[in-house]
Order: sequence, then structure tokens, then C-alpha cells
Amino acid sequence: MGFRILVTEPIPASNIHFLQTVGEVTVGEQGQFLTEESLLEVIGHYDALLCMLSTPVTSRVLEAAHQLKIVANFAVGYNNIDIQAAHRYNIYVANTPDVLTESCADFTMGLLLASTRRFNKAEQYLRDGLFTQWEPLGFLGMELSGKKLGIIGMGRIGQSFAKRAQAFGMGIYYHNRTKLTPSIEQTLQASYVEDLDTLLSRSDVVSLHCPLHESTHHLIDAQRLSLMQEHSILLNISRGPVVDEQALAQALHQGQIGGAGIDVYEFEPNVHPDLLTAPNCTLLPHIASATHETRTAIGELAASAIAGVLYKKNPSEIPNLISAF
Ligand code: DGY
Repeated sequence: MGFRILVTEPIPASNIHFLQTVGEVTVGEQGQFLTEESLLEVIGHYDALLCMLSTPVTSRVLEAAHQLKIVANFAVGYNNIDIQAAHRYNIYVANTPDVLTESCADFTMGLLLASTRRFNKAEQYLRDGLFTQWEPLGFLGMELSGKKLGIIGMGRIGQSFAKRAQAFGMGIYYHNRTKLTPSIEQTLQASYVEDLDTLLSRSDVVSLHCPLHESTHHLIDAQRLSLMQEHSILLNISRGPVVDEQALAQALHQGQIGGAGIDVYEFEPNVHPDLLTAPNCTLLPHIASATHETRTAIGELAASAIAGVLYKKNPSEIPNLISAF
């Protein structure tokens, strides 16, 4: 019997066509596999799982996955997968690095401009029929040139965003687990700030690009928000739980920081009600990588890891495996 592959949500058709050359493919409906229980019911029948960042691939799910050889996440972040359990049950895990770097960096630049120039408020004002005359003091925002950008998490996306921000005349500062090499720092004209609190207190814009793990959970909490300047903007395109959402909402309501641009949420897809009513806040539904090009490339990378593992290719030849044995 051929391989059976479960794809938890509809993905680009070309990705499905490719997977159909590898095995029998079942594609879930939008939202069908958002709970452990829904996966537990079916996972035992599949050799490969192509899942989303919203799919809870827990230890229980992996334990029940008697035939499963690979979980390929349709995302670069993989905090939804219990990697240790996958290892325990000899199941490979793949993610999709690199292919979404440029779309996410473009998006962050857009979010930065939208947040500092108040695009959403201004557009709503026009749509509400309130644009009756040009106003010298209407919708004043923050200019980027000469401002300090503090990037937290200087991986591929952080670096790519830094290049764009540099072209807008911003000074680039960053905090990361490891300092970049002098030549990369020079290309990006980026300065390392070892102390996170110092970075927060000196930046006009703080942008989060770090992965979510134990040490980054609530990295930005009430205390850290209090270090930011009154006019500063916080951007988050990493993972929601990196920010204490309740504390952020409070900081915005109290005018402790200047504003926020948010694409990811602590309890996604739910958004804290106080954030929905907070001023100076651009809120988007996790769309940083949402371009036709990137979503197809993400699917190709995830699908090729599935083909590689099912065809027993040497794991060292599958570049996007994050757990190998
Ligand atoms: C990812 O791949 O981790 C992104 O969040 C998807 O946009």
C-alpha cells in the first residue's frame, strides 16, 4: 500500500499535486484540525503530516501516530510541535526556513510605516466621510529617518528587515543570543546591544523577530514596557506569547508607549479585548508571510521534506529537517 499523507488545511494546489505523486493525500478543511482530539482521531492512519502553526502536534498526538515518519510544519516557527516527543517516537520534523524571509521583512516594513504614520486611523477617517479639508495638524506621525530601531532576534528575518530600515535612514541596533560577525554587522550597519533593557529604553521602534521558547515567553512584560519611551512603537511579527498581551494593552491605554503594530497574538486567533480597543495600534491577522510566492515556496519545502523522508533519502540531504536521528 502507498503512503498516506494528511495536510491539515488547504494549501496551494501545486503543492498538493506534488504530494499526490508521493502518496494518497487527504486535505483537511479550514479549521478542522485545531484541537488535539481532532488529530488523535485520525493520525494513526498517516505516514506523513503537513500541518500549520495552529496545529497542536503534542506528545499525545505523536504517541498515537503509530505510522508517522515525518511532521512538516507549514511555517518557519515550530513551537506548536513537541520536538522532544517527536524525537522519542523517531518522527522527523521539518520547518520552512529562508523562503519567507523577504515577505516577512517587507511586511514588517509595511507595519512599521502603517504604525508610525497612522494609516489605519487615517483611512477610517476618510471612509467615514470626515475628510472635508487638508489639516496641517491632522494625523501627525513619526518620521523614520534618524530614528533608532531596536531589533530583538537578529536571524534571517531580523537581518532582512534591518536592510530595509537602513535604507529609510534608521540607525540599527540589535539584541540577539549571539553577536553577528563583524562583517555582517558592517553590511547592516548594525550595533549589538548586549543588555535588552538598554535596547528597549533607547529605541524609537522596537521590533520582535525572536523564536518562542521558554526564555522568550513574555520577554516583553509590564516591567520591560515601562522602560520604553513614551513615543516608542512596538512591532511583533514573531509569536504572540513573546509579549504579555494584557500588559501591552494596558501600556497603550495608559499612553506609556506611543503605539504598536501586531501580527501575532498570545492566544491566537483570539485577541485580548483590551488590545482591540487600545489606541495607536495596528492589528493584523498573522499575515506576515502571506504572498502567493512565499506560501507556494513554503508548501514546496514542506512537501519535499515529506517526499525525502518517505523515500528514505539520507537525512543530511534534507536541509530543512530540524530533528534528525
Ligand atoms: C512562520 O512561518 O512561522 C510564520 O509565522 C508564518 O507567517
